[in-house]
Amino acid sequence: MRKVILAGNWKMHELIEDGIALAKCTEQGVKDLPINVIVFPPFTAIHPVFNVLGSDSKVRVGAQNMHYEEKGAFTGEISPLMLKDAGAEYVILGHSERRNIFGENDELINRKVKSALSHGLKIVLCVGEKLEERENGKTEEVIKNELVSDLKGVAKEDLENIIIAYEPIWAIGTGVSAKPEQAEEVHKYIRSLLDEMFGAGSGSNMTVLYGGSVKPKNIESLAKMPDIDGGLVGGASLKCEDFVEIGRILTKVKGL
Ligand code: 13P
Repeated sequence: MRKVILAGNWKMHELIEDGIALAKCTEQGVKDLPINVIVFPPFTAIHPVFNVLGSDSKVRVGAQNMHYEEKGAFTGEISPLMLKDAGAEYVILGHSERRNIFGENDELINRKVKSALSHGLKIVLCVGEKLEERENGKTEEVIKNELVSDLKGVAKEDLENIIIAYEPIWAIGTGVSAKPEQAEEVHKYIRSLLDEMFGAGSGSNMTVLYGGSVKPKNIESLAKMPDIDGGLVGGASLKCEDFVEIGRILTKVKGL
């Protein structure tokens, strides 16, 4: 079912001690907020962060990527079993940095999606267009291609374990977020596409987050949009105060 979620993608930031401190501060700050909070530390900090938060924490833990196999000769990769072993409950798949810097394609992402689901990991699946694609009127086409390919072979029942994050690439790390109306338009489109793919009502039941320069100063107007259920936050998730403040504003705007 649809939830209000605040997710923090720490990307390649935080050594173990700093990660623990950030997680503790985050937990303290959001403990009374009636929203769902997930942090995605780098691999090395997943287990220490999970250990210090504990399995009952309000702040859930996830990983930023994974390989689809359980084990094997895949030097430098990490498996779903290893992530679960370390305490991860979620995994981000298809982030644009994985797609664009590391060349992950939709076929690979689809394998990862199916593997994560079969191992009981919940997924945050990222989709989003480049600036050039937006300017050429290709936003919907790009989103459709990604969603259709990445979710190929996924059963309708599995959707409850998938969160979609719309992250326009031009808004990531740039300080320029999408305008609320621009984001809303795509979120609405994502839901209609999910209806088409999985049957009426599927889209409205899914949690769809916005990501791309989410900050305390812009979350209010983004969260006012009816199809935006929360944020996948990069840079501002590294600043405990900012991340917590985003959570407070999200709670208020969503009337929780
Ligand atoms: P920023 O919030 O730093 O723009 O990052 C967004 C993002 O990529 C989250 O996954």
